[in-house]
Amino acid sequence: MGTELTRNFSIIAHIDHGKTTLSDRLLELTQTISEREKQDQLLDSMDLERERGITIKSHPVTMAFPSKDGKTYRMNLLDTPGHVDFSYEVSRSLAACEGALLLIDAAQGVEAQTVANVQLALNQNLTVLPVINKIDLPSADVDKCKQQLEDILAIPAEEALLTSGKTGIGIEDLLEAVVERVPPPKEWDDDILRASVFDSVFDTYRGVISYVRVMSGSIARGQRIKMLATNKTYEVKEVGVFTPKMLKQDALNEGDVGYIIANVKSTSDVKIGDTITDSIKPASEPLPGFKEIQPMVFAGIYPVTTDDFEQLKLAMGKLQINDAALSYQAESSAALGFGFRCGFLGLLHMEIVLERLRREFDMDVISTHPGVIYEVDLTNKTSITIDNPTQMPEPQEIEEIREPVVKVFILIPNDNIGDVMQLVMEKRGEVVNTETLDDTRVMLTAVLPLNEILIDFNDRLKSMTRGYGSMDYEHDGYRAANLVKMDMNISGEPVDAFSTIVHREKAESYGRQLAKKLREVIPRQLFVVAIQASVGGKIVARESISAMRKNVTAKCYGGDISRKRKLLEKQKEGKKKMKSIGRVNIPQEAFIQVLKST
Ligand code: GTP
Repeated sequence: MGTELTRNFSIIAHIDHGKTTLSDRLLELTQTISEREKQDQLLDSMDLERERGITIKSHPVTMAFPSKDGKTYRMNLLDTPGHVDFSYEVSRSLAACEGALLLIDAAQGVEAQTVANVQLALNQNLTVLPVINKIDLPSADVDKCKQQLEDILAIPAEEALLTSGKTGIGIEDLLEAVVERVPPPKEWDDDILRASVFDSVFDTYRGVISYVRVMSGSIARGQRIKMLATNKTYEVKEVGVFTPKMLKQDALNEGDVGYIIANVKSTSDVKIGDTITDSIKPASEPLPGFKEIQPMVFAGIYPVTTDDFEQLKLAMGKLQINDAALSYQAESSAALGFGFRCGFLGLLHMEIVLERLRREFDMDVISTHPGVIYEVDLTNKTSITIDNPTQMPEPQEIEEIREPVVKVFILIPNDNIGDVMQLVMEKRGEVVNTETLDDTRVMLTAVLPLNEILIDFNDRLKSMTRGYGSMDYEHDGYRAANLVKMDMNISGEPVDAFSTIVHREKAESYGRQLAKKLREVIPRQLFVVAIQASVGGKIVARESISAMRKNVTAKCYGGDISRKRKLLEKQKEGKKKMKSIGRVNIPQEAFIQVLKST
C-alpha cells in the first residue's frame, strides 16, 4: 500500500495562540468526534494540563479528510508538548511528521516560543505552513503578522493561511493546504520494519502503550519486535490508531501513526526516540536522532512527616512507571530525614511531579532547592558529574567546574531593553544578539547559566515588561564557571538541606538572604544561636538569634498544676517535630518555610 493518501503533521504554537481550539475544529470538520464527545477539549486530557493550560503529553489523532480533489486522505495530527522541558519529546514528535502548522495569534504576533519551535521544525526538514489564527479578533493585525513572518522567520508572507479556530473561518482551506503542501511520507526501498517511538503512556489495564510512526515496513499483532536501544524483544498484542480513542487495526503500515501494545511493563523500558524493528528481520541501524533523556534539574523530595517515607517510596515507584523521565534515588538529610534525590527535565516537570504526589497520592512533601548537574574535572585527572551540593569535592581537589548553559530567546517591547539587559547581566548572562522586530519590539538572544533562570527569571521578565515579554530557551552545552559550595551553619553545625552550589560572587548576597530568613523562622533558644553562611570554611554572612529563657509555665502563676502539666505535655509533643541541629532545636516547619520562600 502506498503512502500518497497519508499526511502527518503537527501544530506548533506559542501558549494561548489557539492550538487546542484549532485542533478541535479540525476534528469536528472531519467528523472525527461527535458533538457529544466535544464537551471538553479533547486533546488536552490530563487535569493538570487543563488547569495550567499547557500540553504535557502528546496525543496523536487520525482523521479522514475528503479533499476537493475527490480523494479521502488519512491525516495524522500529532500534538506536541508546549514547554521547553519537553523539547526532546517535541523533536521526536516532529521527526514523525512531514509538515508543521505554525500558528500565530493575529493579535499577538510572533512570540519567543514561535521562534524556538520553527528552528526545531526546520532542523527536522519539515514543511512549515504559517497560519495566522484568531483573525476574527477586532485587534487582529494580519499585515503585521505577515511582516513578522518575513522579517523574523524568513517565511514568505504569501504562504500564510488565515484562520479562526473560534468561528471556523479558513479551516477547510487549511486542511486542503496540508494535502497540497505537506509531502506524503517517504517510501522506503525495503519493507523492513522501522518504527519510531515518539511517546509512551502507562495504562493500568493494558500496560505500556507506545506511540509510534512507522517509517518503513509494517507491524501487526503477533509479530515479534525488537527495541534497538535496549535490545529487548516483545510480542505485539495489539496495534491501532487514535480516533482519538484507541481503535484496533490489523496492521500499521509505512507512513502510519498509531500505537503498539506489547508486553512491556514500565515506560522506562520504552525509550522515546528508539527504533522498533522486527526481531527476525531487523533493521541494521536505528533511525537517526535517538538520545537517552537526561534529567537537567535536581532536587530532594522529603515527606513532611518522616513516617510517610515508605508511602512516598511507593508513590515515586508508581509515578515513574508512567513518567520515564523522572529519576529518583533514596537519600537522607540530617535536617529533613529520609527522602529522595530526584532528577527532572526542568522546573515545570518538577512542579508537575510535586503536584501529582500531592493530588494523586495525597502526600505532604517538601522539596529542597532545585539545582542543576555540574561537570567537575579533578586534579587527579578524572572527571565526575554532581547533582547534589553534598557531592562537591574539596576546593583543592577541583581543577575546573562546568555548568549547563542555555540560549534564551527573549521578545520584549523596545522600552524594556535596558531593564532586561540588566536582568540578564545580573543573572550572569550575556546578550549575544539584538534584533529589531518591528517598531515596538526587539528580540534579544542571550546565553545564561541554566541555574540562574530556574527560579525567578521568567517572573521578573514578565513583571518588568508588564506581561508583554516572552521567552523560550534551548540547551547550549556546558561552560566553566567559578562555582563554590556554600554551607549554612547553625551554632557551628552544617545544615545539609541548605547547602547550595553558587557562583563565588553571589555567595555573599545569597548567604545573607538565607541567614536572614533563618533568623526569622528559628525560635529563640536558651542560648545565643549563630547562623553563618560559609564557603570553604570562610564565613561570608552571619546573623544571630539572642537567647531567651523559654518558660511555658510562666503564665500559670504557679497555681493550676494540671494546666501546667498539660502545657509541659504539649511542649514535649512539640519537641518531637523538632529537628535538633547540634544543641539547637528547630521546628520542621521552619525548614519548610525557608525552603519555600528562598
Ligand atoms: P496552550 O494549550 O496553553 O498552548 O493554549 P492553546 O494554544 O491550545 O490555546 P487555546 O486553544 O486553549 O486558546 C487560548 C484562548 O484563545 C482561549 O481563550 C480560546 O477561547 C481563544 N481562542 C482560540 N482560538 C481563537 C480564535 O480563533 N478566535 C478568538 N477570538 N479566540 C480564540
